[in-house]
Amino acid sequence: MKKIIVANWKLNPSTIAKAIDLARKIDHGAKKMRGIEIVIAPPFPYVRDIGKILRRAHLGAQNVFGKNEGAFTGEVSAPMLVSCGARYVIIGHSERRIYARETNAEINAKVKRAASSGLFAVLCIGERDRTKENFLRFVKQQLLGGLKGIQKRHAKKIFIAYEPVWAIGTGKPVRPDDLREMAIYIRRILFDVFGRKAAHSIPVLYGGSVTSKNSALFLNVDGVSGLLVGGASLDPEEFIGIAKNATKSI
Ligand code: PGA
Repeated sequence: MKKIIVANWKLNPSTIAKAIDLARKIDHGAKKMRGIEIVIAPPFPYVRDIGKILRRAHLGAQNVFGKNEGAFTGEVSAPMLVSCGARYVIIGHSERRIYARETNAEINAKVKRAASSGLFAVLCIGERDRTKENFLRFVKQQLLGGLKGIQKRHAKKIFIAYEPVWAIGTGKPVRPDDLREMAIYIRRILFDVFGRKAAHSIPVLYGGSVTSKNSALFLNVDGVSGLLVGGASLDPEEFIGIAKNATKSI
């Protein structure tokens, strides 16, 4: 399976000029890389302009609304993103679950709209606290809730990003052994939801304190097809270093 590296810029950088500069550097660095997919997910106002300058990397967004039109001030729909050139969208990131109080039901509506509009939906799941004994059940609920009622034919539009909340922005990533177990656990649930054949091709990514120094550890874990990168995606050299490691782990 092709490795995929997604840059989640979150609420950065502060101007369109800086965003274009950063995107250009990443795209340029990605030029000679084969066999991997690089996605840049900028904030909404930058999406279209960045899409226009990307040659090698693909365009993503960080959120989408669960309806396609109507009186929903401030929202952005999946068809709008498609018409602005986006191919991917991150859905249900823990920061949205926490700060915007997104529920599994809302996230499910977003995944449905994204997949039926032709976007690749990167569904984020992950426990807040690994010391709680029910953390596996928590992850399962997020996964089942997010994927409820998704048609089998849309399975190829789904990516799962395992991002434990305690690992995001803390400098404390998951242990590779724990990631391996989680990837197996997630895959089993995907088999139950979509059946073996359809679920087999769904990529499982890891996110949380990934850097160019530690990324190879996660990329070499069986069942992990890529990374969702926050902080390190704002530093072009760092991000390109992560992408290079992905080309080596194919
Ligand atoms: P981080 O964020 O790489 O800064 O830990 C990852 C994410 O939130 O997707």
